[in-house]
Amino acid sequence: MGPVTTGTPLKLALVIPGPLDRRSGGYSYDVDLAQALQSSGHTVSVWSLEGRASDLPPPGQEAVEMAIFDALAHPLVVERLERSATSFRKVALVHHLAWKDDPPGHPDAPQKKALESRFLATMDAFVFNSEETGRSVAALMGPDFFRPAACFRPPLGVKPSSAGPLPPAYGEPFQLLFLANVTPRKNLLGLLQALLELTSQYPSLPWRLRVVGNQQVDVEYVASCREFAQRSGLAGLVRWDPWKDPAQLAKVWASTHLLVVPSFHEGWGMVYAEAMARGIPSLASNTGGGAEAVGTTGLLVDVTSPPEMAREMARWMTDPALQRELELRCRQRAAWLGGPGSGFAGLPEFLQDVVSLGVSADATYSVDWNAWLECKAGVDERSLHPRVQTAAFQGLIPRQVLELGGGTGTMARRLLKQGLIAPQTLYTLVDSSPLAVAEAQRQCGPLFAGDNFVAQQGDLYRYLDQARGNHPPELVVAHALLDLLDPGRASVALEKLGARHYWLTHLFDGLTEFLPVLDAALDDRVVAAYHATMDDRHRLGGEGSSRSGKAWLEALPAAGLTVLEAASSDWVVVPRAGRYLEHEQEFLAHLLQFFRASLTQEALSGLSLLNQEALSWWLHARTSQLRRGQLGVVVHQLDLLAGRR
Ligand SMILES: C[S@@+](CC[C@H](N)C(=O)[O-])C[C@H]1O[C@@H](n2cnc3c(N)ncnc32)[C@H](O)[C@@H]1O
Repeated sequence: MGPVTTGTPLKLALVIPGPLDRRSGGYSYDVDLAQALQSSGHTVSVWSLEGRASDLPPPGQEAVEMAIFDALAHPLVVERLERSATSFRKVALVHHLAWKDDPPGHPDAPQKKALESRFLATMDAFVFNSEETGRSVAALMGPDFFRPAACFRPPLGVKPSSAGPLPPAYGEPFQLLFLANVTPRKNLLGLLQALLELTSQYPSLPWRLRVVGNQQVDVEYVASCREFAQRSGLAGLVRWDPWKDPAQLAKVWASTHLLVVPSFHEGWGMVYAEAMARGIPSLASNTGGGAEAVGTTGLLVDVTSPPEMAREMARWMTDPALQRELELRCRQRAAWLGGPGSGFAGLPEFLQDVVSLGVSADATYSVDWNAWLECKAGVDERSLHPRVQTAAFQGLIPRQVLELGGGTGTMARRLLKQGLIAPQTLYTLVDSSPLAVAEAQRQCGPLFAGDNFVAQQGDLYRYLDQARGNHPPELVVAHALLDLLDPGRASVALEKLGARHYWLTHLFDGLTEFLPVLDAALDDRVVAAYHATMDDRHRLGGEGSSRSGKAWLEALPAAGLTVLEAASSDWVVVPRAGRYLEHEQEFLAHLLQFFRASLTQEALSGLSLLNQEALSWWLHARTSQLRRGQLGVVVHQLDLLAGRR
């Protein structure tokens, strides 16, 4: 394993459609992203397109390793990117899909969608501002399309405040704020309909609405909203303001009780996070990036239903306990959203992995089975469940032990070291691997008295068959073996042996989690494909499954054995205080190599649930995490002690 590396500085370009101006919505995210990269030592030049693709440097003269395209620039660059190859990697920074700006059913939608997907197809990787944006890109591009992707939620931008707004004095109105450009997507008209409903259903609940935002983007829509307010008698309750400067806006926030922006679609919903940081809950859609941002801190509603919006606002206005609860949740969630590990933490590493993908050969570890068994011994020792072990030995040193699938004899050596068996114990190890058996004999033989240690090569079913009727061993040990066997067949064979106790440890039981999350959906697919290879073993004449633990808990009693003790013995291999314990890094490297070997084989045989580009990225990024000392894994396993009834 090489040293833990932090990577070399990258030369990057940020490509934006127009000047980088913090006031214009999503650009704030772009500015923060560029600053985060600069502060971690990377060089970022801004390529502002000012409406023309010709503002991109001529091919071959870009002098950067990677360009990060604000996806809103796509109409300006798509043709150029399709026409000529670039010497740099291309990453799209997607805030939300632009074609979704138009209301559902808009006649231009198919054309806009097609243009956007052509642009996305030219990219090497994606940065998303929310899981929702990632999902919508995946839905647009279809199941066979894969690019490395990472999600970085926008930094909060405001310091979370410790005090929320004071509730209105008795009889005073609730101050509602609609803070957004007034466009159909933001659904001000739906909100006004909901407020009309609120006023007619709950006339005793006073409110005022302030609309703050650009009203020039879609003047027709603004006119229809104003007209609705006029016609329905709400005009006197609604105040209209253009965008305000930060100081004026701070005053508006200070007198706001509820943010009401029931958009049909949001990539993330920065405005809800800003409200949250001030202890102000939001009324938002119960789907998409708005719901993702708000979480449990606000009123999530069906934004196509004004009556539902009205009901939820009334519920909140009439329940002071709910108001206090949401304010508290807002402050807690804002502290988490703005806390360590939030914002662009991990972005430089992601970009470095994208740049090096396919360039730096990933270290490969040949699957040396004996080396794997030796390096996992320490991890095993830390995870075996002590209660089950204590029950297996009961303070007595067994005179005769049979270990099935004993590999290179790490268990025998450990038991001797811990004084749970003695050199005088007659220890028989059976394993089908000649190499493992030879190593077991070489390492363990000299530790036992005379010929008391015997490593025998062969199939355990045959051994158990032949041993039946002989004097049974007191203790049978099977460690990290049973998930390779058929529980029904093997439990009957074990029972027939007639031993007093069966110590059956590290039965894999269906859960493998790699840390930290790389791409939640991809992580799930990789792990599911790996588990599927375990379930598929029977096709090649093998046994076992990825859900062995529970199957054995049922099979043992059915075979006439009783479960005397059971507990979990999960492998939890994570850097502790930034360091791995002895052999853990090697252990993780082997594990990745098992994934590489079995999933690549699966793909070759045409069975894989996973596309090869996705697998290569996953292995590459996980290997980088291992080199940086960040990778961890949790594997769920069970230890059992069974005995005769
Ligand atoms: C995961 S390894 C565990 C080895 C050892 N218990 C350890 O943890 O270090 C499983 C072992 O079971 C052996 N094995 C699998 N099926 C077997 C069978 N039917 N008969 C004998 N050995 C078998 C393999 O050769 C391998 O060494």
